[in-house]
Amino acid sequence: MSWEQQLTERIGVVGIRDLVAAFYRHIRTDDLLGPMYPQDDWEGAETRLADFLCFRITGEQTYLETRGHPRLKMRHFPFQIGIAERDRWLDLMGKAMTECGIDGESRAALEAFFGPVADFMRNQPER
Ligand code: HEM
Repeated sequence: MSWEQQLTERIGVVGIRDLVAAFYRHIRTDDLLGPMYPQDDWEGAETRLADFLCFRITGEQTYLETRGHPRLKMRHFPFQIGIAERDRWLDLMGKAMTECGIDGESRAALEAFFGPVADFMRNQPER
C-alpha cells in the first residue's frame, strides 16, 4: 500500500483538515511567516492548503476543480522563501502534527513529503 493510501486510511480528509487548521493557528501569529499571508483571507488560505493536501494524499478533486494544476513553485514566487522560511514552515507543521497526535509512520510519511517540497519552494539566493 502506498504512503498516500495509508495516510488516507489512518488520517483521512478530516485529519488532514484538522492538521491544516492547527498549522494555520501557528502561522497567523508567526513573526516571520504570518505577514506573508493574505491578512483578509485566512480562511481562504487554510482552505487552499487543506484542499491541496486532500488532493495530493486522498485524491479528492476539490483543489483541482477550484485552483487547477497546483504549480506550487510558481505560486510561491511572490513570496521570499529562503532557508529560514523553509525551516519555520516545517517547524510549525511539526508542531501541528504533534498537537493532532500524528506520529509513527504517518508522521514519517508526511515529513518525507513536506521536507523536499518545502526545500523546492526556496527562491532566495542564500546570503
Ligand atoms: C517553504 C516554506 C513555505 C512558505 C513560506 C509558504 C508560503 C505560502 C504563502 C504565503 C501562500 C499564500 C497563501 C494563500 O493565499 O493561499 C502559500 C500558498 C500555498 N502553499 Fe505554501 N509555503 C511554503 C511551503 C509550502 C509547502 C511545503 C507546501 C506543500 C506541501 C505548500 C503548499 C501551498 C499551497 C497548496 C498553497 C495555495 C496555492 C494556491 O492554490 O494558490 N507551501 N504558501
